[in-house]
Amino acid sequence: MAGFAMAAPRPTFATAEDRARILRAAPAEASLRSSAAVPARVWAYDEQVPGPLLRVRQGKAVRVRLENDIEQSTTIHWHGIRIDNRMDGVAGLTQDAVPPGEAFEYAFTVPDAGTFWYHPHNRSWEQVARGLQGVLIVDEPEPPAVDQDIVLVVDDWRLTKEGQIDEASFGDLHDWGHAGRLGNELTVNGRPRFDVPVRAGERLRVRVVNTANARIMNLRFEDHALTLVAIDGQPVEPRPVSNGELRLGPGQRVDLMIDMSLDPGSRAAITEVTGGGRLVAGEFIYAAGAVARVHPLDAPVRLAANPLPTRLNLDGAARVDLLMEGGAMGGMAGAIHEGKPMTIRELVREKRMAWAFNGVAGMSETPLVSAKRGETVVIHMRNQTAWPHAMHLHGHHVRELARSSVPVADEAWRDTVMLEREEDVAVALVADNPGKWMLHCHMLEHQAAGMTTWFEVV
Ligand code: C2O
Ligand code: CU
Repeated sequence: MAGFAMAAPRPTFATAEDRARILRAAPAEASLRSSAAVPARVWAYDEQVPGPLLRVRQGKAVRVRLENDIEQSTTIHWHGIRIDNRMDGVAGLTQDAVPPGEAFEYAFTVPDAGTFWYHPHNRSWEQVARGLQGVLIVDEPEPPAVDQDIVLVVDDWRLTKEGQIDEASFGDLHDWGHAGRLGNELTVNGRPRFDVPVRAGERLRVRVVNTANARIMNLRFEDHALTLVAIDGQPVEPRPVSNGELRLGPGQRVDLMIDMSLDPGSRAAITEVTGGGRLVAGEFIYAAGAVARVHPLDAPVRLAANPLPTRLNLDGAARVDLLMEGGAMGGMAGAIHEGKPMTIRELVREKRMAWAFNGVAGMSETPLVSAKRGETVVIHMRNQTAWPHAMHLHGHHVRELARSSVPVADEAWRDTVMLEREEDVAVALVADNPGKWMLHCHMLEHQAAGMTTWFEVV
């Protein structure tokens, strides 16, 4: 039995009459590097990195009481959940950050089944990098039959020689203006290596979550065919992953079905292959004698649809442009910050800002768009920077309409959309969730250095 998802059979959520489940954010230790003499000092939920796997059935209520025992104010954002706005956990927009020593109770229902995650939304660039992050699985009323349902939380960490979190480079301006805080240590489920014991013939549902601050992960499951069944929690028509390689930006998730097609006793590596490298993150280790089944299962079927809108009223849609500028080699001359026009030099030196959306670095006074409830909104994001970005919006999922003017024939709903350098992407959403919602780059240093805005649904 694989450790992570299956290890804690105790119910994670209390029922409505009971008290909330407590999540305590506090300093802890984690063995992130196998060769390190002492474990790394991290910040963690319930002393676990990643935090405890929270699991709830679709449509049910979640009650979590965040207890803050770190030295900074914090919140929890429930990434990808189409949530009640008051529970979205964005410091300064949907709630005040919870000061050290205090608590906040999150109570919401989960409309969609799928793979989601949670993390702070205050100084995320530091708090996520120190270890505050965890996975929230919302189970279908009738989950598809699989032999194992496992979660692979893929992360990278920037550690010192001694194997401690590199604190000196928090806020490093070079990171903020380039690719963000890239780590030097890859972990899966908080470990330097995560092996998955399997039996020949088994079918695994594998949920992959990229919780890195900034690294785009390119993952391979060597010698195995992958069938993609969900993106960012939302079901898609089952499809093979072309060339077997997954490209996941920060914040993105996929659900895969993988049949264990090798012989008993085999081993197959799970690798991260960015830039032609091959980092082994773990292995499927086949039991020597055991065979789960001789005849392969039928092809995976589509997961039941979530209650998302079925129609996009593109003709009547509100349309808005989002020009993404700045960063190293971006040639941005300046931008408005807190209402004041500034040169790029002033922005970087005085405000630690390096990026802008529609000429504004950081949060603007007015929303990007104020949509009427139920209205379809098309956002045309134009990445005029020399860097890729992972654009995440809160409270809603979007459908891609076109990439660099080429129509996308993909019905997938996503909450985090990747744009390669100088690429442009048009997305559509149905603005059906009232409140104020963030739209930002999930490369957390880019977010902190200006790539953030908000929209509202009234
Ligand atoms: Cu996962 Cu606004 O964040
Ligand atoms: Cu970015």
